[in-house]
Amino acid sequence: MKTVRDIAAMRAAVRDWREVGERVALVPTMGNLHRGHLSLVELARARADRVVVSIYVNPTQFGPSEDYADYPRTLDADRRRLRRAGADVVFVPGDEEMYPFGLQAMTRVSVPLLTEKFCGASRPGHFDGVTSVVARLFGIVQPDLAVFGQKDYQQWLVIRRMTADLHMPVEILSGPTQRERDGLALSSRNQYLDPDERRRAPALYRSLQRCAQAIEAGRRDYAALEADGRQALEAAGFQVDYFAVCRADDLAPPAAGDRQLVILAAGRLGRARLIDNVLVTSA
Ligand code: PAJ
Repeated sequence: MKTVRDIAAMRAAVRDWREVGERVALVPTMGNLHRGHLSLVELARARADRVVVSIYVNPTQFGPSEDYADYPRTLDADRRRLRRAGADVVFVPGDEEMYPFGLQAMTRVSVPLLTEKFCGASRPGHFDGVTSVVARLFGIVQPDLAVFGQKDYQQWLVIRRMTADLHMPVEILSGPTQRERDGLALSSRNQYLDPDERRRAPALYRSLQRCAQAIEAGRRDYAALEADGRQALEAAGFQVDYFAVCRADDLAPPAAGDRQLVILAAGRLGRARLIDNVLVTSA
């Protein structure tokens, strides 16, 4: 496995693969890799001949009071894990590679509306940072396909929308959320939980599952289900950001005939902001 830091070398590697007809997958990450990220690498390996994993803690997707400075940076351990997982290249660009014109003058990619609710409402500018960096990564690596986690469901939808709308020739796949045994979705931010918060944290997934079971059993009173979910999270000590039942393909409020739904929730537990979601087909 090669570690590549500059764009020219990254492009040269991809050019060599393409010349012999190999399909290239990209798994974008911010590092501090866990089993969730590695499951995406595995999916990429199954669908492509070559796998590039990018590691870049992207400054433009963090708000001014967020954890950019503290975000865990663990490149040596990440590289060991990626080598074992069978990645071909780990791409680790610097800020000057990603944003050579500086953060003020950078070209931005923005997907309106879809990015204005849920995580976008509580983290203004966050998704513009995500689309702006992912568009660059797609331009640099020019992958045939890219893999994202279902854990960040809204992010996955936003990237799919950007790719479709700008006719980027990249297939966007999603991999299922990997969890701890008690249901807590794996996340780099789980490290911010103290032992008491860690015991409370699985309430997030439990509340989503309860809501999904109610919908599968035929309930349609989504506002009441959302209020129950919110209350369960508050009882577990969360400062709830949102708990919402939405149409799965565009996060609109569900209309009468909509069957494919997603339940999204986010909240703060101590220092950690946790998010999770569950897909559900209504009865
Ligand atoms: P990061 O949080 O490092 O996540 C990288 C990828 O791993 C994302 O697609 C995310 O959805 C996925 N992922 C995280 N936890 C997961 C879990 N428990 N199970 C399965 N997949 C999981 O998301 C980002 O980075 C950034 O926004 C990025 C897309 C790299 C742009 O900077």
